[in-house]
Amino acid sequence: MSRLTNKVAIITGATGGIGMATSALFIAEGAKVLLVDKDEVKLEKLAQDLGESASFIRADVSKQDENQKYVQAALDTYGQIDVLFLNAGIAGIPTPLWDISEEDFDLMMNVNVKAVWLGMKYTLPFMMRQGSGSIIATSSVAGLKGQVRGASYVASKHAVVGLVKTAALEVGKMGIRVNSINPGPIETNMVRDLEDTISRSDREKARKILESNIPMKRYGRPEEVAKLALFLASEESSFINGGVHTIDGGVSC
Ligand SMILES: NC(=O)c1ccc[n+]([C@@H]2O[C@H](COP(=O)([O-])OP(=O)(O)OC[C@H]3O[C@@H](n4cnc5c(N)ncnc54)[C@H](O)[C@@H]3O)[C@@H](O)[C@H]2O)c1
Repeated sequence: MSRLTNKVAIITGATGGIGMATSALFIAEGAKVLLVDKDEVKLEKLAQDLGESASFIRADVSKQDENQKYVQAALDTYGQIDVLFLNAGIAGIPTPLWDISEEDFDLMMNVNVKAVWLGMKYTLPFMMRQGSGSIIATSSVAGLKGQVRGASYVASKHAVVGLVKTAALEVGKMGIRVNSINPGPIETNMVRDLEDTISRSDREKARKILESNIPMKRYGRPEEVAKLALFLASEESSFINGGVHTIDGGVSC
């Protein structure tokens, strides 16, 4: 028996690097997956590639009603939600704290923080009735320490940890576990965008600079994050609640 047989998962940020790898792994382990992202074209292609265990809905998770909409879609399609992977996120452009615009700060908070709260808010009543569930939110090493020119991202990812810890306290007794994943640099578009801000003309040089700051001297792979998400989604982590799980090659040390 696979680790997610008869389970239904919602994955936000599903067409991004970590989201795609996790969607594929969850399906390989027997889950039905509702893919959520704001990019409809990529969603359609991903759902096709993943086959009949995948369905999708376009949603901008920074909008209150669109969170409600994807939760309802999961219930309408599958009648249950066992795993909620709140993974959509943006990194913004590295900017000194005093130069961040109000608009950019608000966007960061809406996508990275408010969406995590709303995803929990609309899924938890169902999971509480069901008496089970695993919620996983993608924070970051930036949720554990400061980062020069990263004030709004760092604040948003610290807030994710706060939401996870509080939810874990509130719903643990109802059979629901809530955990965060805190990656270091992972090889996705997000890290490529970061390379561009270091040296647009010489990405290889930018990569070397970033990798030199990682104790394991390489980026993580999305598939490695997906394996941690699978562990937290499955019964293998049955007593792990409110945990902050770094996957960063040692960066946070
Ligand atoms: N890649 C890294 O180095 C790294 C490190 C630490 C944390 N993270 C976190 O991992 C998560 C996944 O990122 P990734 O690395 O796969 O990057 P990615 O850019 O490949 O994926 C992010 C996904 O989120 C989606 N998204 C963004 N805004 C959205 C919105 N308003 N509504 C719906 N979907 C939206 C994007 O369309 C994209 O598919 C993010 O929360 C990110 O902050 C990434």
